[in-house]
Amino acid sequence: MLVNTTGSSLRGRDLITLMDLTREEIDFILDVAFDLKRRMAIGDMPRVLDRKTLFMMFYNRSLRTRNSFEAGMTQLGGHAHDLSPSAVYAPALPGEEQAYTTERIADVARVLSQMGDGIAIRIYGKPTGWVVGKGDLIIREFAKWATVPVLNMEDDLYHPHQALADVMTMKEKLRNLEGKKFVMSWAYSGSPEKPLAVPQSAIIAASFFGMDITLAYPEGFDLRPEVIEFVKKNVDQYGGSFEIVHDMKEAFEGADVVYPKSWTAGRLLPQYPAIPGYGSETAQWDKIKELFEKNKHWRTTQELMDLTNRAIYMHCLPADRGQEVDDEVIDAPYSVVWDEAGNRLHAQKAVLALLLR
Ligand code: CP
Repeated sequence: MLVNTTGSSLRGRDLITLMDLTREEIDFILDVAFDLKRRMAIGDMPRVLDRKTLFMMFYNRSLRTRNSFEAGMTQLGGHAHDLSPSAVYAPALPGEEQAYTTERIADVARVLSQMGDGIAIRIYGKPTGWVVGKGDLIIREFAKWATVPVLNMEDDLYHPHQALADVMTMKEKLRNLEGKKFVMSWAYSGSPEKPLAVPQSAIIAASFFGMDITLAYPEGFDLRPEVIEFVKKNVDQYGGSFEIVHDMKEAFEGADVVYPKSWTAGRLLPQYPAIPGYGSETAQWDKIKELFEKNKHWRTTQELMDLTNRAIYMHCLPADRGQEVDDEVIDAPYSVVWDEAGNRLHAQKAVLALLLR
């Protein structure tokens, strides 16, 4: 007899990127997420994490992630502690410690593992000295030493919990995702500091579901080569297609889903680890700002939406209105951003219930 062991295979695991999961495991998490969402709608909230604790550490701002993890833990019968890295001894890598100000990650991870049931971290950008990949390295350092699951609440490369909520939302709106045209597009923002995590995770997620993926960005805004390779490999395995274009109009034509948002020009920032032919030795902010100003016209307008196949509009939020997107688009009936934000709660509750159980 074949036994489905997917649920038990997730227990105790870390979630740093969806690249570490199988399609079967992602399907299982989404099944549980839909189940928890349906049950909550009729007032049924199973306390499967009774008295369990999640330690959350945010090196960057957050509205959705912080509150969905905290509310999710409460609804599952547990509790989430919000640890400000500056109010504890800030966790640091070996060689980067300052006496009585920081504490080695290996020590923090082992101490918290004695007291609770999971550690969740957000870190990218300024707290990592703008070395792309260093936030991911720090989360992996926690995972190396912790004896409880470590969850990535967004680093400089991946935002797996956002991507789970994104797929959940697409499934709710479109049902079968196979053969649907999914457009991940760059869009202008007044801030050049948004990480690569959301676009990278969104195309990784779409590549598990046989979607026709179009990645659109102006020259200079390439995503990391290992992510592109992974997506191509997944498309070979699960079907669908993958293309890169440099024109927003061309990308939007015939789209079923559009996901236009800003991300920084990673090619002009140092990378960890160094990638041959990608990244730079020092952060080139003048050039990055120039690239942003040159591409102000990458804004999501109704005119662009009219080119689509009555597409749904997605955004992880916060959205820069009047820059990334016009009000009439984000507030239109085809915009699914509020359901998408709400699904953060259900997708994360599924992850918490399965991993921290
Ligand atoms: N989408 C998202 O991660 O939102 P926050 O930055 O508010 O957590």
